[in-house]
Amino acid sequence: MPFKSQFFVFEGIDGSGKTTVSKKVSEILSTKSISNLWHREPTDSIHGQKIREFLQGKIKLTPDEQLKLFLLDREFSVNETILPTLKSDTCLVQDRYYFSTAAYQGRDEEHAADILYMNEDKGFPEPNRVYFLDLSPEEALERRNTRGGNKEAFDDEKEQTRIYQNYLAILPESTIFVDATADLEEVVNFCVEDILLSLSLKT
Ligand code: TMP
Repeated sequence: MPFKSQFFVFEGIDGSGKTTVSKKVSEILSTKSISNLWHREPTDSIHGQKIREFLQGKIKLTPDEQLKLFLLDREFSVNETILPTLKSDTCLVQDRYYFSTAAYQGRDEEHAADILYMNEDKGFPEPNRVYFLDLSPEEALERRNTRGGNKEAFDDEKEQTRIYQNYLAILPESTIFVDATADLEEVVNFCVEDILLSLSLKT
């Protein structure tokens, strides 16, 4: 059945499960013959690689330098992957987008809103749907502790609370809030069903 390619974005604080969920959603869409690409930001561009070094604590970056790098990486992401994918009748299932920059690099809610406008002004394409995997900063911290692994730049609970509050302030009204405490299968199926509706493949 023909459908126009659409852009689906998954957002959430660290530990909310958005990478696992978005990958599974992409797999299920493929089994339904819905051509799609799973993609994430930060990308593997030179800017993205520098960002990963920062996240792992290998280099230091001021907040302004972080913002600049995330924007450069996004320009790369939009030009190299997002636009070409959408033009080729393939849907995009993306792990993080400019809402992350607003929430993470925003000092407070007002600054987060400024960063969102900055991204929109650059003409980066708007997603068709944004799924926010909603989990409290306390629960997300517990999950990250259970999961183990190295600490990253924004791991601290106070930081995650700032980021969570920024998200709530800047996410578009149409954002679909998904209860991230539910079973993985339930969360994934909920998102897939909504994507099918968005693609008019379901009534
Ligand atoms: P990950 O959890 O998807 O691997 O994301 C990497 C980290 O980068 C995560 O802590 C969120 C952060 N980040 C920003 O600070 N700003 C951004 O614009 C993006 C895309 C990610």
